[in-house]
Amino acid sequence: METRFILSLWVFSQLGAVLGDSVRSNEPEVSGAEGDTVTLSCSYETSYTAGVYLYWYRQYPNRAPQYILLRGTREVSSVSDTAGFSQERFSSQANDSATVLSIRALELADTAVYLCALRLAQ
Ligand SMILES: *[C@@H]1O[C@H](CO)[C@@H](O)[C@H](O)[C@H]1NC(C)=O
Repeated sequence: METRFILSLWVFSQLGAVLGDSVRSNEPEVSGAEGDTVTLSCSYETSYTAGVYLYWYRQYPNRAPQYILLRGTREVSSVSDTAGFSQERFSSQANDSATVLSIRALELADTAVYLCALRLAQ
């Protein structure tokens, strides 16, 4: 029997956001089986036009959030950083309205709460 893992996606916070900005997850839960590729996404709106940094974290129960990666948009679109543990299986794209996190070769240990956050590039 195939076991399916549930990856919960929560919106973490809006770091440095100003009034009118918002960020939300597009699906609260994504599931997949071992070896699958899954994609999580968050949409956002901001009145700040110079660009934002979009962060992804994951969190295990009773642990601090673990940083996965960040991507910049617009004026900071050349900014990109990925934690060592996530370089092989995690990838992300960000544009003016959304960020996606793809996880390939899904493992049981990927079962966690995933958080997206945005920070204005100022
Ligand atoms: C931004 O990315 C999302 C997710 O990949 C996609 O659905 C959307 O169409 C893209 N928007 C633009 C303006 O490219």
